[in-house]
Amino acid sequence: MEVIVKEDYDQLSRLAAEEIADVIKRKPQAVIGLATGSTPLGTYKELIRLCREKRLDFGRVVTFNLDEYVGLPPTHDQSYRYFMNENLFNHINIRKENTHVPDGLADDLAAGCRDYEEQIRKSGGIDLQLLGIGGNGHIAFNEPGSSLGSRTRVKTLTEKTRKDNARFFKSMDEVPQYAVTMGIGTIMEARRIVLLASGASKADALAAAVEGPVTAMCPASILQMHPAAIVVADKAAAAKLKGAYPFEPQRVPPKK
Ligand code: GLP
Repeated sequence: MEVIVKEDYDQLSRLAAEEIADVIKRKPQAVIGLATGSTPLGTYKELIRLCREKRLDFGRVVTFNLDEYVGLPPTHDQSYRYFMNENLFNHINIRKENTHVPDGLADDLAAGCRDYEEQIRKSGGIDLQLLGIGGNGHIAFNEPGSSLGSRTRVKTLTEKTRKDNARFFKSMDEVPQYAVTMGIGTIMEARRIVLLASGASKADALAAAVEGPVTAMCPASILQMHPAAIVVADKAAAAKLKGAYPFEPQRVPPKK
């Protein structure tokens, strides 16, 4: 995995947006995997800017989000569908029918999960998957202990994750206990992965993911096995890394 340490959150966001824009420019019908949480917000702002300035066209882009809370309707302001509409989709020229977020309200959640996998497969697979990292090393809602080969399914959220996310709800009681999440195996099939980590609260999880052993107890550590994963951290999140890492991706020069 390639690790890039940027000076601050703005620079991290700009690089992440460039990575996504690069894939879409090369393949206008690209399939992009998207994440929620506070970390990708700056990336989404940058993508919106590029689209408004007509430097990026989402007209044929297809997206799949990582996860959704069980029990929250798309109109709930903490549902991930609502988050994506508000923070990205409503501001770019993407066709809403090309945006996919798991259904946390399905009567048969297991069937919904199988269908989500099928839709990803039918779309040709994910070209680039954007990821954040939980304070406990989770990716999407794959909590520590999740099978490294897991597929889209329902997961029980840990107390730590519910507490971390409680800041967005009126009270802890309102934080859902379950979520539908792409599996680690599903995520690992993306052709390229960009994991973002910002702030001191992510420093321990990031060090475990990048420099610790590959273990289900730190789901993000599986990215060490991915052939094209890039980790973009700001200085605060990178504070506990021991290796020396560059500020820019080491792009292979094009063949003459
Ligand atoms: C949530 C999401 C993850 C996200 C993580 C970190 O639980 N399911 O996809 O990466 O939290 O969120 P934040 O970026 O707000 O720290």
